[in-house]
Amino acid sequence: MEQYVIKGGNPLVGEVKIGGAKNAALAILAAAIMTDETVYIDNLPDVRDINVLLQAIEGIGAVVERIDRHTVKINGSMIRDVNIEYEYIKKIRASYYLLGALLGKYKKAEVALPGGCNIGSRPIDQHIKGFRALGADVRIEHGLIITEAEELIGNHIYLDVVTVGATINIMMVAALAKGNTIIENAAKEPHVVDVANFLNSMGANIKGAGTDVIRIKGVEKLHKTEYSIIPDQIEAGTFMFAAAATKGDVTVKNVIPKHLEATTAKLLEIGCEVEEFDDAVRVVSSKPLQHTHVKTLPYPGYPTDMQPQIAVTLGLSQGTSIVTESIFENRFKYVDELARMGGDIKVEGNTAIINGVEKYTGARVSAPDLRAGAALVIAGLAAEGITVVDDIVYIQRGYECFEEKLRGLGAQIEKVNSESEIQKFTLKVG
Ligand code: UD1
Repeated sequence: MEQYVIKGGNPLVGEVKIGGAKNAALAILAAAIMTDETVYIDNLPDVRDINVLLQAIEGIGAVVERIDRHTVKINGSMIRDVNIEYEYIKKIRASYYLLGALLGKYKKAEVALPGGCNIGSRPIDQHIKGFRALGADVRIEHGLIITEAEELIGNHIYLDVVTVGATINIMMVAALAKGNTIIENAAKEPHVVDVANFLNSMGANIKGAGTDVIRIKGVEKLHKTEYSIIPDQIEAGTFMFAAAATKGDVTVKNVIPKHLEATTAKLLEIGCEVEEFDDAVRVVSSKPLQHTHVKTLPYPGYPTDMQPQIAVTLGLSQGTSIVTESIFENRFKYVDELARMGGDIKVEGNTAIINGVEKYTGARVSAPDLRAGAALVIAGLAAEGITVVDDIVYIQRGYECFEEKLRGLGAQIEKVNSESEIQKFTLKVG
């Protein structure tokens, strides 16, 4: 099991380049098999979840050609199987996108019930409701979701909760259904727009993505395309908070600043300076950080995937801050780990009450999930002394070359694989 070992205390300074959005890429890769022509996708992040999905797609017969680390060609004309039980697919949440993609194209799909980060109960009732509304039969048997339809016919669908996954999945199926579909109370996240743009570039007719009403006119088939995935707003936001917590000065490049507005607003509130450029943001943290309140919400609200990162930063801010998690119920598991580093956070229900401390002190902690793991790395970078973060396999699901990018900003962090390597690092950094 690999770990990160970190000697904290260095302000992060310099420039970092952000990769493609993992959550957009997962949906786009699944949607790429919806045509029999070859699709070329660029700006793909080279992270574990993406590689698992690519293997699963290959496993059902699609031709996947990795041109380089960030570029792939996919041809779905040879798909021979609509059953995906591939061992690792259960571990990634986005396996549910294969349901929408296969159902839309072949009118049948069988996919293992999705897993993903353990951040609370993650129902898929809205996906199922959408598939049924479009004419599909859906049942769960032996750990598989099995869905099939004689014919897919457009419908008017009102989502009971704002969900990214169900919005995208319904959009994919409706793209190849007969007639018109309207999705109301749709999610507005940048990756919903990115997937709609991707499908439209393949010949779909989707309007309104980015608002809460999406209108889809079904088309007979989709065709080849070349597409570049949007930058990852969560990776960008993670580096922005790493700059804030370490009292650094970091320019985060290759981003769409508009997608980062909720994060930027909070950084300004706590006393950082944020400068926006066309495709970059610079975060300077030179004054004592101040407390604030934050509540996670669907886009354009503050993202749940940025909740642990702001919380560890508020843990070092003056005064009492309140963080309310309104999307997933089990997203405060890092709090106990942070307490070992001197953090003072009390969780009551879906609220964390954070009393800022002057400093964290290095300790051995464990990454409970992807974003919380990244947040503990931020805490380690800001802390006095040595921090070891165990279970970094979670972090590797969503961050490409995390430690290399951090080292480029002056951090002392290494990926290690044994106690002796940890000791070696400790001796080296003194
Ligand atoms: C996606 C992201 C995840 C992010 C989340 C919210 C991927 C692979 N994951 O997850 O990183 O944290 O969006 O931005 O893209 N819900 C239902 N029924 C459903 C579906 C969802 O009740 O059928 C609820 C969920 O429990 C949650 C809320 O809706 O409370 C939002 O979930 P959703 O947006 O669907 O998240 P995911 O697609 O799972």
